[in-house]
Amino acid sequence: MTTATARAYPNIALVKYWGKQDEDLILPVAGSLSLTLDAFPTTTTVALDAATGTGTNTGIDTFSLNGAVASTDATGRVTRFLDRVRELAGSETRATVTSTNEAPTGAGLASSASGFAALATAAAAAYGLDLDRRDLSRLARRGSGSASRSLVDGLAVWHAGDDAHSYAEAVAGPDMRMVIVTVDTAQKAVSSRAAMRRTALTSPFFPAWISSTEESLAAMLEACAADDFTRVGRITESHALRMHAVIQSCDPPIRYLAPTSVAVFDAVAALREQGLEAYSTADAGPNVAVIVRPEQAEDLRDALAGFGSVRLVGAGDGARLIDAGASPA
Ligand code: ADP
Ligand code: DP6
Ligand code: CO
Repeated sequence: MTTATARAYPNIALVKYWGKQDEDLILPVAGSLSLTLDAFPTTTTVALDAATGTGTNTGIDTFSLNGAVASTDATGRVTRFLDRVRELAGSETRATVTSTNEAPTGAGLASSASGFAALATAAAAAYGLDLDRRDLSRLARRGSGSASRSLVDGLAVWHAGDDAHSYAEAVAGPDMRMVIVTVDTAQKAVSSRAAMRRTALTSPFFPAWISSTEESLAAMLEACAADDFTRVGRITESHALRMHAVIQSCDPPIRYLAPTSVAVFDAVAALREQGLEAYSTADAGPNVAVIVRPEQAEDLRDALAGFGSVRLVGAGDGARLIDAGASPA
């Protein structure tokens, strides 16, 4: 039996990915940019089942998440991902996958990103694929688009384009910290995947969202290259609100931000007036991530403590193998 264990951290997008041009290959309608965190890791072990020797593909993969057998949907997603790995490896061997998320699952804190980045890294090793970081990013993308960016340390840009060119890579930018304000750990009612599809199919604003994301990303890359925290922050906050606007314009509508989430955006805007320069964003869920300069990070954390549980985080590492062991079956 061959086993491998990997660890990956979530990433929070400053320019968001919202919409696919190819649902099968998971190619985005536009590029995006994120910060990989140094907290809330996912740890995933992939253990290959003993070969049956029959050459037939009769077994099933099993997936346990956070100590319990995962749902049919989540297991199906893992199996489809492993099918891609098996295709690359020329293998029919099934696997037992065990994973733990330190972030809440499906709550807008990027569990699918850390989850599939860890799974890609562990599965590639267990099935004996020799992939570089770029190809691991392309592979992770097939599990969850945002996972492509959790292969990269710190700030990462994920390129739109065809399969060969749609991977994430590091970009330099201003040193920053993030305060994660967790206002609700419940699993979202509509997954990112389903909500993204509904937005593309029903929002009259979707074409404008695509062009505005392209503009935001170009401006964000310039701001990062100029080491300009203020510009990075302004783009981050306005772009996040645009994403939530396009999501709310679906039919039937979806609203991920809760009243407390909006209160955090307002509180951060008020803090800026007082000289504490910070900017808010939120993924597909009610929890808010606020970027801040390192020297003001603790003040920000303390100021937001009343809104939920707060955690001060920084830039973290891309997914890594933490244990690769082969033992006789
Ligand atoms: P989030 O905001 O947490 O990324 P999503 O709706 O994008 O929420 O994705 C949640 C789904 O991602 C889960 O329902 C499950 O299918 C998958 N997922 C979460 N964690 C893991 C993991 N550790 N390993 C594999 N799949 C995972
Ligand atoms: C709002 O990567 O979770 O977090 O590719 O369907 O798995 P799938 O979606 P996912 O979407 C992330 C959406 C977002 C923005 C972002 O992370 O860029
Ligand atoms: Co996700």
